[in-house]
Amino acid sequence: MPGAKISALACYVPPGVLTNQDLEKMVETNDQWIVERTGIRERHIAAPEVATSDMALEAARATLEQRGIAPAELDAIIVRTVTPDMLFPSTACLVQDRLGAKGAWGFDLVAACSGFIYGLTTAAHLVMAGTHRNVLVIGADTMSRVIDYTDRGTCILFGDGAGAMLIEPAPQGEGFIGFLNEIDGSGGDYLKMPAGGSRMPATCETVKQRLHFVKQEGQQVFKYAVRKMYETCRDLLARHGLTPKDIKLLIPHQANQRIITAAAERLGLSCDQVIINIDRYGNTTGGTIPLATRDAVEAGKLHKGDLVIFAAVGAGFTVGANLWRWEY
Ligand SMILES: CC(C)(COP(=O)(O)OP(=O)(O)OC[C@H]1O[C@@H](n2cnc3c(N)ncnc32)[C@H](O)[C@@H]1OP(=O)(O)O)[C@@H](O)C(=O)NCCC(=O)NCCS
Repeated sequence: MPGAKISALACYVPPGVLTNQDLEKMVETNDQWIVERTGIRERHIAAPEVATSDMALEAARATLEQRGIAPAELDAIIVRTVTPDMLFPSTACLVQDRLGAKGAWGFDLVAACSGFIYGLTTAAHLVMAGTHRNVLVIGADTMSRVIDYTDRGTCILFGDGAGAMLIEPAPQGEGFIGFLNEIDGSGGDYLKMPAGGSRMPATCETVKQRLHFVKQEGQQVFKYAVRKMYETCRDLLARHGLTPKDIKLLIPHQANQRIITAAAERLGLSCDQVIINIDRYGNTTGGTIPLATRDAVEAGKLHKGDLVIFAAVGAGFTVGANLWRWEY
C-alpha cells in the first residue's frame, strides 16, 4: 500500500478585520476579558458579497499553484464546511466548477471543527487505496453569517477564513501515520444551530427567535474539549508507540487559547511544540488547522521529516486527531 503525504498548503482570509475594540461597541464586553478568556484579539470578516465557496476557491487555487499542478489533475475535492453557500448543490460542486477541476468528484463534509481532520483522514485513505492521486481537502467557513452579534458569549469567538491541503501518494512509511477520530452525539445540544434544517424549517418565528444562529453552552464545550483533545492525542501517540516528547508540533484547532494550553500542559508539551495563532483569526472553524499549519511553516517551525499531530474537538461532539510526518 502506498503512503500519502501533504504536498502543498495555502490559505485565504478576507481582508476585513473585526477587533475586540469593534466588539466593545456592539455588545457589553471588553478587550481585556476577551484576551484573558480566549486569547483572541481580532478576526477576519468576509464582505457581504463573499460566500464560503469564494474563499474556498482562493485557497484551492493558491494550493495548486504552489504545487504546480493543473486543476484538471485533481481526482477529488473534499470541502469541509458548516456554512455552505447553500445546502445543495454542495460547496465542493461550486468549487470544482469554478476551479475547472474537470476530472474530480467530491463532496462536502459536515463535522464542525473536527472536519478538516476528518477530511485529511479520508483523503489519506483515498490515496493509500491507490484509487486517487491528487485529493484536495479544503476547510472554509463564513462563520460571521451564522453568528449572533448580539450574543457576547459567541460573537467574540468566531472569524471567517479558508485553507486547503493537497494529499498525494508517497513512498510507504512517509506522510500519513494514523488517526483517532470519534463522535459523541450526546453532546449535540451544547453547540448547535437549531433552525433551518428539516427539524425546524425557517419561519418568521424562527427568525424572530434568532434560531438560525449558533447557540452554545460555552463551559460544557470547554470542559469536553480540554479532556478530549488531551486524551485523543495521548491515545493516538500511544497506539504508534510514541509519547508527546517524540513530536515536533501539536497543531490544534483554534477555539480558545485556554483549551489549547490546558490540553498541551496535560500532554507535557513545551510552548514551542504548540502552534497558537487564535489571537489574529479567532475560531475560523474549517480554516484553523490549515491556517495554523501555514503559520508554523512560515515561522520555520515545521520541516521535512518532522512528526506533527493535528487535533480538534467540535460541535456534535466531534473529535479528531491525525499523526503525519511532514514531507515538504
Ligand atoms: C465562551 C467562553 C469563552 C466563555 O468563557 P467562560 O470563562 O466559560 O465564561 P462563562 O461562560 O463562565 O461566563 C463568565 C461570566 O462572563 C460573562 N461573559 C460571557 N461572555 C462575555 C464577554 N464576551 N464579555 C464579558 N463578559 C462575558 C458571562 O455572562 C458570565 O457572567 P456572570 O458570571 O455574571 O454570569 C468559553 O466557555 C469557551 O471558550 N468555551 C468553548 C467554546 C468553544 O470552544 N466553542 C467552539 C468549539 S469548536
